[in-house]
Amino acid sequence: MSTRELLADSLTRARERTRRLVAFDDDELRRQYNPLMSPLVWDLAHIGQQEELWLLRDGNLEVPGLLPANVEGLYDAFVHSRASRVDLPLLTPKEAHAYLDTVRAKALDVLDGLSGDADWFRFGLVVSHENQHTETMLQALNLRVGAPLLGAGTPVPAGRPGLAGTSVLVPGGPFVLGVDAADEPFSLDNERPAHLVDVAGFRIGRVPVTNGEWQAFVDDGGYRRRELWSPRGWEHRGRAELVAPQFWNTGDLAGTRTRFGVVEAIPADEPVQHVSYFEAEAYATWAGARLPTEIEWEKACAWDPATGKRRRYPWGAAEIPAAANLGGDALRPAPVGAYPASASAYGAEQMLGDVWEWTSSPLRPWPGFTPMIYDRYSAPFFDDVATGDYRVLRGGSWAVAPDILRPSFRNWDHPVRRQIFAGVRLAWDL
Ligand code: AVJ
Ligand code: FE
Repeated sequence: MSTRELLADSLTRARERTRRLVAFDDDELRRQYNPLMSPLVWDLAHIGQQEELWLLRDGNLEVPGLLPANVEGLYDAFVHSRASRVDLPLLTPKEAHAYLDTVRAKALDVLDGLSGDADWFRFGLVVSHENQHTETMLQALNLRVGAPLLGAGTPVPAGRPGLAGTSVLVPGGPFVLGVDAADEPFSLDNERPAHLVDVAGFRIGRVPVTNGEWQAFVDDGGYRRRELWSPRGWEHRGRAELVAPQFWNTGDLAGTRTRFGVVEAIPADEPVQHVSYFEAEAYATWAGARLPTEIEWEKACAWDPATGKRRRYPWGAAEIPAAANLGGDALRPAPVGAYPASASAYGAEQMLGDVWEWTSSPLRPWPGFTPMIYDRYSAPFFDDVATGDYRVLRGGSWAVAPDILRPSFRNWDHPVRRQIFAGVRLAWDL
């Protein structure tokens, strides 16, 4: 397939995902399920606004757009906090859909007209942006209280017993961290450039930490033992009254969780999700381990010591096969051991898909960082910015579209957040 066809396909697939997540009545789309999230209709129009900006206006807000400037301004994420968006005079769902259709038709015309050596990158950027927002919309829908809107999700493969708590060895030595445009033309600015980094040997979890393991932490008083927590983590634990992962039920419903409105038994062999960085840290201390740095994580995922080269995916193949739980339809992680074919060169499994994995790393630019056309995508969130209080998450969740995920992909969030589909993979010093 040509780059043009690949991008057209990815744009279409992203839009199908978006449409499925807004196939509800107007009242539903305008609701604010939680102050942490936007009403779905905000995400919808914002997806179109960004596509118009990067593909039809060269990233220049001065170029007149399809929306009046005051309306367009409602979709500036830096101006309007998520909590405040429900009170804005937003486009109606019907207006938003019509806007997205108009933008998309024009964007596909631009794509059709591009010559071979053209700037395909911004199309990849727009694909990534839309798919990142559909994951955000899934977070919102998961917070919705009421009868399930999305059903229980599609089946996932069975796991393999005996893997929880085991680890693999990653010997010390240099590896190539990050990627260049030449190898990964659609990598985002914060993944570049590729550069050599020396890493001391370590062990890393063969699979992510499971609900069953987390239950043992809860039963052992993990949430009540101050010595397991960082000072900030302990303070947050008290204020937020944390006693278990988000969406684990208590009282009569103890032993169950609520997932997209479905109440079900907590599967012991499924990777835990909806834990904050602070909880992940405390769990790791309890387990006699620590969180990996994002550099360790990327080495365990992508480096092939036999060839001295990066693999495109942990399992090496050029495409994402049925080796990972991605794409959003499952509505949950798959049990550990569900994807034996996903093993990296070091034997770590399920590094892509299932759950985002908290790392101990703050978000920092790689040496030689150069902002992309969307220059506020990464830089405002770096650790050197006064408000920068983020930790990097790696590997993507079940909700990530395979089109946009790479071992070098870096996500970030505040250390208290847990509505995201995030879990834990442990690491150990040798
Ligand atoms: C990379 C997921 C942290 O949602 O804030 C969407 C992605 N940036 N629109 C976010 C993003 C601009 C971003 N994360
Ligand atoms: Fe956005």
